[in-house]
Amino acid sequence: MSENTKTVTIDFGDGRVAKMPVLEPVLGQSVIDMRTLGSGYGMWSYDPAFLSTAACESKITFIDGDKGQLFYRGYPIEQLAEQSTHLEGAYLLLHGELPNKAQKEAFEKSIKYHTMINDQLVSVFKGFRRDAHPMAMLTGIVGALAAFYPDAFDFKSPEHREISIHRLIAKMPTIVAMCYRYTNGLPFMYPQNSLDYASNFLYMMFATPCEEYVANPVISKAFDRILLLHADHEQNASTSTVRIAGSSGTHPFSAVAAGVACLWGPSHGGANEAVLKMLAEIGDESKVESYVAGVKDKKYRLMGFGHRVYKNMDPRAKIMRTTCYEVLEALGKHNDPLFKLSMKLEKVALSDPYFIEKKLYPNVDFYSGIILRAIGIPNELFTAVFALARTVGWLAQWQEMIGEADLKISRPRQLYTGYSLRDYVKLDSRK
Ligand code: CMC
Repeated sequence: MSENTKTVTIDFGDGRVAKMPVLEPVLGQSVIDMRTLGSGYGMWSYDPAFLSTAACESKITFIDGDKGQLFYRGYPIEQLAEQSTHLEGAYLLLHGELPNKAQKEAFEKSIKYHTMINDQLVSVFKGFRRDAHPMAMLTGIVGALAAFYPDAFDFKSPEHREISIHRLIAKMPTIVAMCYRYTNGLPFMYPQNSLDYASNFLYMMFATPCEEYVANPVISKAFDRILLLHADHEQNASTSTVRIAGSSGTHPFSAVAAGVACLWGPSHGGANEAVLKMLAEIGDESKVESYVAGVKDKKYRLMGFGHRVYKNMDPRAKIMRTTCYEVLEALGKHNDPLFKLSMKLEKVALSDPYFIEKKLYPNVDFYSGIILRAIGIPNELFTAVFALARTVGWLAQWQEMIGEADLKISRPRQLYTGYSLRDYVKLDSRK
């Protein structure tokens, strides 16, 4: 530690005083380096749900929750949403820089080349009940994919690492579309490599072998934007899960399967599905006020509102709001009753002191659910679409982590509040 290093002093009250260095980020909050707390002072920090803990160093994504900013590798999400595509964003997140023309072509070609899945996986699909939740299937199928690519275990090899990343980004749309087709008893549609990433997904979802299908370009563009906006979001629950799973040196597809499982929850990726359920429950514009009153009485939460990090409008939500209007206009659904109901709910909540004081703004999921529904994607598949998008971020963060010179397996500690030592009680003596 140099003389100029800023420190925070901890007085343990027993004569010991520790000076912890303060690490300065390029952007965002300073971080107290607590790494010597356990080994040097025999104490741990207590921070359930990681409310104040930086669990890693990262160069990928930056969020300023108070200012409502989101940057991928320094580029604001607004500029990327306006000018870029999901695959270009993927390259940026994975490599740190926007691709030049040749790099972009090579990356897109490689992704297109790997879109098909091993035919044996069709048998894995057939093992599921038809009414299985797509996220249950997705967790299983992504995990099963590891069995088909044992070479991905050799991720210290840059070639194997790259090909594994390309494979998963390429195959996720195919797998997510297959979840939908399987549930609905529809034949699986093979990917069409002449199509762009978003249009290919829409094709595999909605085409049939019987007639030609051409995706509406407004819908393809909007869908691609949804993917780009969800591609990464710093150290959220599922990304942290991927990092923790990956820190053991497990297969990258298994680490991503763990991320998929985590994303399923309604506090995370399941929120846009929950938004639609909530709108259906409210049912009618006239019931918005009474529903909001129930939220304020803490009977339930307003789904699609609030965020652990954003205490200002989520920048992705602003873009999604505009996209939502574009899509509904293009599909002639701007008078859709559910959309009108959601706009009323947004208006009522945004003007209510309860939400204003708690800084609860609509988040990205509030609008993405409405767009996905308009496109024809069923509610149950929303989180799987989120997983398809977030695969890029999970892999970028996994790649960054396994590249660390001093990678250690993640191992949080605990504040134990259970029984102290006691003797085994024989069965006859138990009450
Ligand atoms: N509706 C009503 N009240 C809320 C809501 C909500 N959606 N979110 C937070 N609050 C209240 C909460 O009751 C608490 O009030 P009080 O201070 O009186 O106890 C206060 O706001 C702070 O709540 P918190 O649970 O400490 O906030 P958090 O930052 O831990 O929660 C959240 C973040 C996303 C889990 C939460 O806002 C929530 O449950 N939202 C609804 C689910 C949702 O839309 N999730 C998607 C998040 S965005 C997708 C992603 O990036 O993964």
